[in-house]
Amino acid sequence: MKRNLATGLLFLVLLPAAGGAQSIGGGDVTFKPKGAEPVVFSHELHVTSRGLKCTGCHYHVFQMTKGSYKMDMTKITKGDFCGKCHNGERSFGVLDEQNCVKCHK
Ligand code: HEC
Ligand code: HEC
Ligand code: HEC
Repeated sequence: MKRNLATGLLFLVLLPAAGGAQSIGGGDVTFKPKGAEPVVFSHELHVTSRGLKCTGCHYHVFQMTKGSYKMDMTKITKGDFCGKCHNGERSFGVLDEQNCVKCHK
């Protein structure tokens, strides 16, 4: 918990210096699962195009750092991580075979 708070504060300090325009939040985050095509998570798409707030994901779904959790499809399908929204209700579902390629490219 202490470390998360420190990371958050560090981010607030760095934000003005970053100028804001180059990348939204943490930019693109790439996951490389074994046995599947890579998954690129786009902050820009989620924050800018979909109007999600940082707190929509941080810190209850994801920490503000790369690789903070060991994700896998079983957990995601049960509604954790990406599956919190990608459940066919808030957004396209992870179980639909047509949707695999929306994330795995
Ligand atoms: C839809 C969910 C979502 C939203 C909304 C979101 N993030 Fe993220 N963020 C993620 C995910 C997923 C990761 C990667 C987490 C991991 O690998 O454990 C991440 C990682 C990060 C990182 C670390 C990136 C790195 O390369 O180490 C930063 C910084 C960050 N986010 C900042 C923000 C800020 C600032 C906002 C609001 C402008 C925001 N995020 C909004 C999902 C989100
Ligand atoms: C919302 C995005 C998303 C969708 C849709 C999605 N996945 Fe994934 N998938 C992920 C993420 C994220 C991981 C974990 C990446 C990591 O951290 O290694 C993953 C991991 C996997 C893995 C690696 C092994 C495992 O069990 O975790 C396989 C295989 C996989 N997905 C298959 C599929 C198939 C098949 C579909 C469609 C039926 C699908 N995925 C749909 C995001 C998605
Ligand atoms: C807080 C809710 C939320 C979380 C968590 C979330 N997403 Fe999304 N995502 C959305 C919404 C809303 C959209 C726009 C949905 C739509 O058009 O159906 C979207 C769209 C996307 C798209 C664009 C698909 C397309 O082709 O237009 C991808 C890819 C994606 N998300 C991947 C991910 C991955 C990977 C994760 C986990 C690392 C994740 N998302 C976590 C809400 C979320």
